[in-house]
Amino acid sequence: MDTAHRSFPILVALFVLLFGVTSSQPYEEFLQCLEFHDSNITSIVYTRANSSFSSLLESSIRNPRFDTSATPKPLLIFTPRQISHIQSAIRCSRAHRIQIRVRSGGHDYEGLSYSTISPSLTFLVLDLRNLRAIQVDVPSKTAWAQAGATLGELYYAIAAESKKSSTLAFPSGICPTVGLGGQISGGGWGTLLRKYGLAADNVLDTRVIDAEGRILDRASMGEDMFWAIRGGGGNTFGIVIAWKIKLVPVPASVTACTVTRTLEQNATEIVHRWQYVVDKLSNDVFFMVVLNRVVNPIQANATTIQASFNSLYLGSIEGLILMMEAKFPDLGLRRENCVEMSWAKSILYFAGFPLNSPLESLLDRTISATGSAKFKGKSDYVKEPIPISGFEGIWEKLKEVGVQTGGLILASYGGKMSEIPESSIPFPHRAGNIYQVEEVAFWVEDGVEAADGYLNWLRGLYEYMTPYVSKNPREAYANYRDLDIGRNGGGGEGDYRRARSWGSSYYKNNFDRLVRVKTAVDPANFFRNEQSIPPLSSWR
Ligand code: FDA
Repeated sequence: MDTAHRSFPILVALFVLLFGVTSSQPYEEFLQCLEFHDSNITSIVYTRANSSFSSLLESSIRNPRFDTSATPKPLLIFTPRQISHIQSAIRCSRAHRIQIRVRSGGHDYEGLSYSTISPSLTFLVLDLRNLRAIQVDVPSKTAWAQAGATLGELYYAIAAESKKSSTLAFPSGICPTVGLGGQISGGGWGTLLRKYGLAADNVLDTRVIDAEGRILDRASMGEDMFWAIRGGGGNTFGIVIAWKIKLVPVPASVTACTVTRTLEQNATEIVHRWQYVVDKLSNDVFFMVVLNRVVNPIQANATTIQASFNSLYLGSIEGLILMMEAKFPDLGLRRENCVEMSWAKSILYFAGFPLNSPLESLLDRTISATGSAKFKGKSDYVKEPIPISGFEGIWEKLKEVGVQTGGLILASYGGKMSEIPESSIPFPHRAGNIYQVEEVAFWVEDGVEAADGYLNWLRGLYEYMTPYVSKNPREAYANYRDLDIGRNGGGGEGDYRRARSWGSSYYKNNFDRLVRVKTAVDPANFFRNEQSIPPLSSWR
């Protein structure tokens, strides 16, 4: 090690002693600054000394992988009740150099809305749980929804307002506890994507607070920034307070079906065939296939690979069966595999709730889709059908992990997704994709060794998928954040050239425009994290 390297930790220690980067000083000054702006504000600030700090922090940690004693924790949690509170937080954070991590639903795959990879970073969590008002306007088929609301709360509000007909919906994600702040900032796909595109494709207006603390709407921010915030990633251009969204028509009754096939029931051939059909079906049909290892239902003490075909059809059971008999007879869809229900109830069906669950289950913010399991996800896009031999290799990979601890989720594309130009919003994965893949690992065991085992397995599966998925760039979905594909520095300090590799995976040719917008609206890189878009000035 050379002298410069050896003296670096000493310099850092000296800096910390002199300027108190990790002392309580920035926190006390920050609080004084907040009080100066609003004398009542401290009641919504939770410091580590507060008895509710840990439970508040943990209540929206959706990946327990980032809920250990080793996970870097915020200096404080700030739960604004009104917009002026956020403006004060921005001004005081800037003045006292405390980084802000915004949290809406807390589903960030890498925990970046409430943690960081950098143990020395001084940051606060700005948690929007109290900003979740929703106003649905049925006549104009629009709604204003605050960013701290969950998808479940939005779907429930739409269903409640249009209850006489239940014919309005919003094309967004499947998991009811996902927050509108993060979901729409990264795209947001769900069972209506083949009919209406993504959540971000259906945003009409917004309220955002920028790095100067100004409240902007679509007109005042201009079309470039309005373009960027609809899919260009959260915690990057500003804090989204609310979205004005376009509601879309759905039939009063839709059909949800599940068909499972194991290897012994011809799963390999059926999944293989599915790829040739699924993006060309009527836009009224959406298919999701979950591939994983399960206990063999017909052989004691044995496991097998299962493909679970979940579909949503905007029509009747008879209509779907007729279509499947004509287009995809290999699946063998039967009436008993399907149930008719309202679209809002179909969300509960896809999220795995029992069939008789009340619609109010959509409002439960405490439910965790992954239970206490830690997880990591990665994503891919498939443009050419994977050959039978490719699936046989996937089965071998799945056999390397335990029952239901690793899997792939395939979501059908085509339809409206192919009609929207790649540059319409930052999300670029449009025409030419048959389906999106999520590779995922779940585990309940504690400790670094167990985690490394699952992470290595997942990385091996991802490596195995290389010849079968998109190339140059290998595309990825920004909302399935994956720090393996590249990142900024731990404090979020960015470098255009480095960011370009992961940035083009998420955004393809839209990456450069995102950098231009970032450079224009937040040149000092105030809003940042390990995968936020860097401004060009940080490269210079
Ligand atoms: P979180 O609060 O963690 O925010 C995610 C990112 O956005 C962070 O960088 C955060 O700082 C930033 N952010 C949050 N609020 C913001 C605001 N108001 N303004 C600016 N930035 C903000 N995706 C999908 O498309 N369809 C699906 O069906 C699902 N299903 C699903 C299930 C489960 C169990 C998980 C864990 C995740 C998904 N996702 C998904 C992925 C999901 O869309 C993605 O994780 C979102 O970013 C989550 O948004 P939250 O607000 O919940 O997360």
